[in-house]
Amino acid sequence: MNSQTLREARKYEEASETAITETERPQFHLSVRTGWMNDPNGFSFYGGKYHLFYQYYPYDTVWGPMHWGHAVSEDLLHWEYLPAALAPDRLYDRDGCFSGSALTLPDGRHLLMYTGVSRENLKDGGSCDVQTQCLAVGDGIDYEKYEKNPVLDSSDLPEGGSRTDFRDPKIWKKTDGSYCCIVGNRPADGSGQILLFTSANGFDWTFKKVFAENRNRYGKMWECPDFFELDGKAVLLTSPQDMLPQGFEYHNGNGTLCLIGEYDEETDTFTEQRNQAVDYGIDFYAPQTVLAEDGRRIMIGWMQNWDTISFRRQEYKWFGQMSIPRELTVRNGRLYQRPIRELDALRQNKVEYHDVVVSDVLTLPGIEGRRVDMELVIRPENPDMYYRKFAVRFAQNEKYYTSLSFRPAESVLKIDRKFSGSRRAIIHQRRCLVRGNPAELKLRMILDRFSVEVFLHDGEQVMTAVLYTEQEADGISFFADGGARIDVVKYDLR
Ligand code: FRU
Repeated sequence: MNSQTLREARKYEEASETAITETERPQFHLSVRTGWMNDPNGFSFYGGKYHLFYQYYPYDTVWGPMHWGHAVSEDLLHWEYLPAALAPDRLYDRDGCFSGSALTLPDGRHLLMYTGVSRENLKDGGSCDVQTQCLAVGDGIDYEKYEKNPVLDSSDLPEGGSRTDFRDPKIWKKTDGSYCCIVGNRPADGSGQILLFTSANGFDWTFKKVFAENRNRYGKMWECPDFFELDGKAVLLTSPQDMLPQGFEYHNGNGTLCLIGEYDEETDTFTEQRNQAVDYGIDFYAPQTVLAEDGRRIMIGWMQNWDTISFRRQEYKWFGQMSIPRELTVRNGRLYQRPIRELDALRQNKVEYHDVVVSDVLTLPGIEGRRVDMELVIRPENPDMYYRKFAVRFAQNEKYYTSLSFRPAESVLKIDRKFSGSRRAIIHQRRCLVRGNPAELKLRMILDRFSVEVFLHDGEQVMTAVLYTEQEADGISFFADGGARIDVVKYDLR
């Protein structure tokens, strides 16, 4: 039986989503049904569809007691909202149903594992959150919380592990049919760690080992872990809080870290070899992946960042959208991301130009729009001499623009959305040290009304940013200081 709290949320979301018109939302990125959205949750393929749940507060456009919103899709681009799946309605989760994941049980039911939060009053008059791991089982629409919740609590933690920072379980099934789950936690030194738990049936869980340790290298607490094998490597994704920048990496305060290494399934041992940032833009956090039926590993992230949530349109009745789903591969020890190939079906009105010399400001007929897939290749006009700077401006009119500019001598690509309509003096720029060949910069830009995602050199690096520029600003122009020669292939996305 659904609780009163859940029934109310379902009634509220159904009534209030009608206040948001279609053009006030992104077209093919999932945005919140109404109110507030953060992390993707329970990303899974179930009953012939992709299911994506999300951290959800329906009643306002700010974070509040967390519910799980729910949407389904066949192509990860056209989404249908389903009724909210979880509400904070039990003693153990009354202050929030935090992030978690999903899988299909052998009997065909859908299993959700999430973090229950309940605030406890302390003797000194203060309070603290207690976080535990909980289960809910359902049919793809309605979910029943497990009667033995929570299934993991402070008694399952290793020595020194925090019961306040113990969250975001990611579950998967091993080849032998048993289950694994990793959870973010804070050890006694205040840093972050990932704990591994195992289960024979998905319901009874035991602590196995500390799966990965931060040791204060990458931020502090590690949130939203995900783990998978890909292209012969093991990949651990996690979103650290409170990161310190290191060179051109990890500039976002809260960012997403990718550790690539080896995994020994016998002993459940992960050995780190390399680290990198997952996104070099401004707005990307807490991604989760799904293994698609056809074997692709697909990642979706929250297209936002805790440090930039004050950048918003006051008049909108929604806050929070997901990134474009991205197909992952590992090549030469690095994580590559590409927009899912399903996006190709949305391409229309191809316009292309080749070998266009840019030596000042240039616009090209047919190159404009705010729902766009555009590929650019930029080379020096004269092969022996770099241009000083190349820039593409978009979401542009007399008043506004956002730009990507590149200086090949430094190999630095900068995104700048200072003039995107923001009234907040938060960070609006980010620089990325481009790894590929600066003499041939390849960019693919995906625009969808309120965002830009830039895939460099076939996805070796990605820069993501939200934009709230008015939609009338749909110009695109090019600029070069010193001659550049460009190829442009542009489609509208409909
Ligand atoms: C990450 C996070 C998670 C938590 C959720 C709460 O963005 O802080 O660790 O489960 O958001 O909404």
